[in-house]
Formats: sequence, C-alpha cells, structure tokens
Amino acid sequence: MAGLIPENILEDILGKVDIAEVIAGYIPLKRSGKNFKACCPFHHEKTPSFMVSTDRQIYHCFGCGESGNAFKFLMRYERMEFPEAVEVLAKKVGVCLPKNDFRGESPNGATSQLFKINELAQNFYSSNLNLAEASGARDYLYKRGIKQETITELKIGLAINKWDSLINYLRAKSTSLGLLDKVGLVVAKDDGGYYDRFRNRIIFPILDIKDRVLGFGARVLDDSLPKYLNSPETAIYTKGKHLYGLNFAKDSIKEDDFVAVVEGYMDFLIPYQDGVKNIVASLGTALTSEQARLLKRYTHNVVMVYDADSAGELATLRSLDIFIEEEMNVRIVSLPKGFDPDLFVRKHGIDAFREKINNAQNIFDYKLGVLKNRYNAKEIEGRAKISALMLDTISKFKNAILRSEYLKKLAQDLNVKEEALIEELAKVKTDKGYTTQVIPPPKRISSINPTEKLLMSLMLEENSLIGRIKESLDAKDFQDERIAKVVSIMFELVEQGKQVAPQILMNHLGDDISELVCESVFLPQTLTDDHKEKVVDDCIQRMKSNSVKLERERLHEQIKVAQHKGDHERLALLTEEFHCLIKKRTDKL
Ligand code: CTP
Ligand code: MN
Repeated sequence: MAGLIPENILEDILGKVDIAEVIAGYIPLKRSGKNFKACCPFHHEKTPSFMVSTDRQIYHCFGCGESGNAFKFLMRYERMEFPEAVEVLAKKVGVCLPKNDFRGESPNGATSQLFKINELAQNFYSSNLNLAEASGARDYLYKRGIKQETITELKIGLAINKWDSLINYLRAKSTSLGLLDKVGLVVAKDDGGYYDRFRNRIIFPILDIKDRVLGFGARVLDDSLPKYLNSPETAIYTKGKHLYGLNFAKDSIKEDDFVAVVEGYMDFLIPYQDGVKNIVASLGTALTSEQARLLKRYTHNVVMVYDADSAGELATLRSLDIFIEEEMNVRIVSLPKGFDPDLFVRKHGIDAFREKINNAQNIFDYKLGVLKNRYNAKEIEGRAKISALMLDTISKFKNAILRSEYLKKLAQDLNVKEEALIEELAKVKTDKGYTTQVIPPPKRISSINPTEKLLMSLMLEENSLIGRIKESLDAKDFQDERIAKVVSIMFELVEQGKQVAPQILMNHLGDDISELVCESVFLPQTLTDDHKEKVVDDCIQRMKSNSVKLERERLHEQIKVAQHKGDHERLALLTEEFHCLIKKRTDKL
C-alpha cells in the first residue's frame, strides 16, 4: 500500500539513530546516570523532568507525560508529519528510503515538480537583474538602500517588462504550461493561452524553512498599483502558514530567544541587512495560530513591530491574542507616525531600532493604552467597554495567576471593583464554554495495578522474560486495557521472532499507551537478574489468583441474580462453573 513505510526500514532507522544526539540538537541535555535530562521543551518548567534514555532510545517527561521515540520527538518538536520525520532521520543515518516514495513526493511527484519549477523561475528572475535593461531596477534597489550581498542572500530578482519572458524560458526547459499555471506563475487569458503573472516588478522569493521556493511577492518599481502582487495559493503555498524570512532568521531567533515580527518585505530586509537577524515578516496580514506555532519552535518570545497606523487598529489588537493562546509572550512596538521599520532604520539607524525593540510594551499596557485612546475612561460606559475588551484578552491566559494579576491591575487602572471584573470574566469564559467543560483527569500510571505494571516493565527490560510470561498468562489476563494492548503486541512480536525494543513498540501504539511504556522504562529497576525470575513467578501467581478471584466474584453475582429470578436451569449451570473454578484453583496449589 502506497503511503506506508515498511516496518523493517523504520526499525533500521531507529536502530542507527541516537535519540540523545537528535534531541541535543534542539535543547541542552545534561547527563544523569545512564540517562540524560533536560527542562521539558513541551511544557513550561524550571526543574528538569524530561528524561532521555540512550539505552532504550526513548524520551519521557514526568511532568507532562509527553513521550516517544526519535520520530515522535521530531513530530512534536519540529511539528513534522510522520513521513517527514522518517525522511529526516533516514537521511541523517544514511538509510535509503524506498524509491516509490510513500509521500508521493518522489522527484517526479506533483509537489516536488512545483518546487522545481519555482526554483527555476527564481534563478531566472535573479539572473534578469544582470541584464542591461535591468539598470532601472538595480537603481531602484540601491536607492532603497539594498546592498548587493542582500540581493544575493535573499535571492531577490526581477521580472522584466514582457508578457512571456518566463513562459518562453521555462517552455525551453520543457516545462508544461499546465504546471506553470498550477504553481501560479502564469495567468490564463480569456481567449486561451497564458501570460506571465509577474511583469516589470522586483521579485521576492518566499522560501520555507527548508529553503524551498513556495511562491513569490512582486513589487512595482514606481507608484503604480497594486504595489505588490503575490503568488496565489497553490498546492505548495498556503498564506498564513509561513513567515517571510524565517529560513534566514531561525538560528538567530533561537540564539537570541526572541523574534521581531514586522509587516512587509522591506521591513524585514533593511533591519536584517543592518544586523537585526532575528526577524520575520507577516506579509501584511494578521498572524495566524499556525504562524505562532511555527515561531514557537524557535522561541516563546515575540515582539510585534507595527507602524503607527496598524498599531492603533482593533484588528491588530485582536490578532495578538493568538500568542497568548499559544502561551507565548508578546510585546509590542508602535513606531512613530509615518514610519515603518524600513524607514525608521534608514532614518534613525539600527541601534535606535534595537532600542525600540528592547523597550517594547507588554500586551496589557499596550492594549489598555490603545483602548483608552479610543474610549473615554472618564465615563462609565467607556470603562465598561474598555473592561470588556481587556477581559477578552485576559481570559485567553491559561495561567490562573497571570489572569488574576492582570485583573487586579485592570481594576486599579480603571478604578473599578475587582469583584465586578471577576464576575464579567466568568461570563466571557462561559460564552466560550471553557469553564463548563469538564475534562476527565488523565488516568495516571500510578493508579494501575502494580503487579501488571511491574510485569510489563520487566518484559520491556528483559525480552527473554516475555516467553516465560506468555506460557502462563494471556494478554487479556491483564485488567488494564492499555497494558493488555502493550502485552499483546509484545507477545505477537515475540511470536514473529522479533525483538521487542520500546522505541519500535512505540510505532504500534497510541499516545496514551506509549506514555505508559516510556514512563515504565525510566522507573528505577533495582532487581538483580536471579531475583527477576522469582519476581516474575510471584507476579504470575498473583495475577492468576487475582483473575480467579475476579471470575469468582463475577459468578457469584450471576448466581445471586439467577436465584432471585428463580431461573433454576441457569443456576445449575453457574453452580457447576463455580465448582470447576474452585477445583481448578486447588489443583494448581
Ligand atoms: N502587501 C501586499 N499587497 C499589497 C500591499 C501590501 O501583499 N497590495 C503586503 C506586502 O507583503 C507588503 C506588506 O503587505 O510588504 C506591507 O505593505 P506596505 O506597508 O504597504 O508596503 P511596504 O512593505 O512598506 O512596501 P514599500 O516599503 O516597498 O512601499
Ligand atoms: Mn515601507
């Protein structure tokens, strides 16, 4: 079946990869006995409860329960899909993936063809800048303060003033017009045929974090309209899913542990050229939660840099809530009227820009400031309006302490009663339905029958014990259905003569069960080898007598019901069964 990666290849990759090395590429790991530990990258904590085992090739966080093998780590941390994680690790350890690519993305696959075409187009646009007829464009770029090395690094190019120059170039390379249309580089004419979408414009390629060309933004060289033309949404480009410049900025973002988000291409480019490298551009649209999560891979701290016009808009304010929902910290810089980051840096210099960023306002103060400008806080209605809009934001904080601190601050600032705000906040929340929502507490591993848990960890630790246990117990003898599932897979693997490593087991398990396996791997095992067999035998006995006990209780209940109903036939059957059970038990002892 296309779409599935053969099991043996997954095992081959997992066998060669070192999970500690993979994880250490993202977060600092400290040695702790046989294992490594770190502060968990998946939830906020100050003391490390995130463990990585090189022996077992898995990770587990005792704080939030996040756990898995190397594939799972990349899926969670880099937000990759499974096939992507497999691909990355296969490449790292030099395992060849099968030719008929499981993602339908072989070199001839549809999406890679689109990427290929975009790359050809990007090279073509770049080379256009060297043409004699490009002198106007070159002048324009220099006039705007863009240096040659920036043009090269950001792969800036030019679409010349012709209707078919890209079409002719790519046709000569035997690219089909259908594909050019699919990737948005051409536009269909009403009467058939196509023309180049971008003409007489500066071209900014939009790259993803793997440096693949997703699409293009194209600016006019004068004051004509529209100022920018962009690639339409295509199979490889979805607006609101990417951030311009992230591929160039990601290392600096991680290093500086914050990112400056600006609106336009030029607002990215000029500060970046002058040394503020931890910067990305949203390309003029409100940020999406997908973009917030993309940034969250590199930092939790965001500084939004707006020009004065956008900064004052309520839509801008609303878009900031996305970061709060993602539990990121967001601060805001509002530039003086008439300035965008590009102009500001060119007029006042990069250090003044840095200082603006360092003095960014937190979202609470900023939003309150904007609202007080808009509504009259001296009037009751004004204060009610401001409170309501502030509570919208405050309700988004997942942390109760932050919520209550901000409530207190708001009450003080507006001179209203804190109790009233608390009452209003409760309303905001029930509107959204999250205070009424009851989330069942996760079934913690400690609530599981210790005998079952111990047997499972012993089998995970020592594969040779699996056979011994399999002779005496069935998977369904385990009362906890998650453990039963793990055991049944272990039994099955052993039957197929396979090894039962936790990191491979993981590929067969859902998140909740894999958490159980991972945790038990990290629980201290203090048993010596000869002691283990004795413990296993004891556990088996206990499980058996427990299952007899449960069976007896079940029969007992049914007998009572049959007696009550006067069902003599059924009563006889059940009594017979009951005696067999007792006999079986005494035989064993
Ligand atoms: N934008 C767009 N289409 C437009 C106008 C703007 O896609 N017609 C996007 C572009 O990504 C642009 C951003 O919104 O970079 C910000 O727009 P604006 O502030 O108008 O442009 P600047 O980036 O300041 O461009 P320039 O400095 O070159 O005038
Ligand atoms: Mn501008």
